[in-house]
Amino acid sequence: MSPRPLAVVTGATAGIGHVFAQRLAAAGHDLLLVARDHVRLDAVCAALAASHGVAAEPFVADLSVDTDMARLADRLRAEPRLAFLVSNAGFGTRGTLLTADPEKQRQMLRLHVTCTHELVSAALPGMTERAAGTIIVVASVASWSPTAGNVNYNATKAYQRVYCEAAATELEGSGVHIQALCPGFTYTEFHDRLGSGRKGIPGWAWLSAERVVDESLAQARSRGAVVCVPGKRFKLIVFLLKHAMWVPGGLRQRYRRDRLRVE
Ligand SMILES: NC(=O)c1ccc[n+]([C@@H]2O[C@H](COP(=O)([O-])OP(=O)(O)OC[C@H]3O[C@@H](n4cnc5c(N)ncnc54)[C@H](OP(=O)(O)O)[C@@H]3O)[C@@H](O)[C@H]2O)c1
Repeated sequence: MSPRPLAVVTGATAGIGHVFAQRLAAAGHDLLLVARDHVRLDAVCAALAASHGVAAEPFVADLSVDTDMARLADRLRAEPRLAFLVSNAGFGTRGTLLTADPEKQRQMLRLHVTCTHELVSAALPGMTERAAGTIIVVASVASWSPTAGNVNYNATKAYQRVYCEAAATELEGSGVHIQALCPGFTYTEFHDRLGSGRKGIPGWAWLSAERVVDESLAQARSRGAVVCVPGKRFKLIVFLLKHAMWVPGGLRQRYRRDRLRVE
């Protein structure tokens, strides 16, 4: 058996997940990488193994499908070297509750909600027994900004963030650290897959996936706050979303918090 600790990253062939895989390999972890496109996944694993001298195993799975989720969860439970779990795979959709593809909405609920819970639950028994481990769940700034056309994305990202915040209270003193990584607009394939392009989002608003991952890992390594919002601008935006009556219209997220208040 390899002496190296193991890191599992879902959605590791592109964007944020790919950079996590690079950084964790560079830090000396063997990798178990998950995505659906097996050709691309094989290529990513081969490249990372060659450049970092670690083992990188492809795990082909569609994590919005229950049987694939269960296969990966079984694998996590059986891994004595599991040191890092990055639950990152996710996607956005277009359209309102009336117009969005209903099956895509169900897939989102399974991937962002059910899968997050299944993977974290599978990782925890071994990690807590060893009193060591790090779990990062990739949520979003969108978890604080309910907007039309994003109902399930907003709601599932809020689930992921609150899940981590609550889990962290249970894990205090266990040796296991959990983080909800909440990036703002990040330059990846996300918006290409969404089909919305990047029009209407100002240039200054974009973060690189490298910046997002490096801030996340630095905060996790120092066992910092549970919620990580990379970039000063997005920290300010989250502050405004949480405490102000409105946020700058440039982000097209203007809304009055009092409309959301429960009387
Ligand atoms: N980019 C942003 O602006 C932004 C902002 C905030 C939060 N986020 C969050 O960050 C996470 C990563 O997004 P990204 O921007 O890096 O996206 P991305 O570049 O589109 O990468 C998505 C990755 O997830 C995999 N994936 C998608 N659906 C999957 C499924 N059903 N089962 C298994 N793997 C799946 C994809 O590979 P395959 O297609 O081969 O499966 C790919 O490796 C997501 O949770 C997203 O919500 C993104």
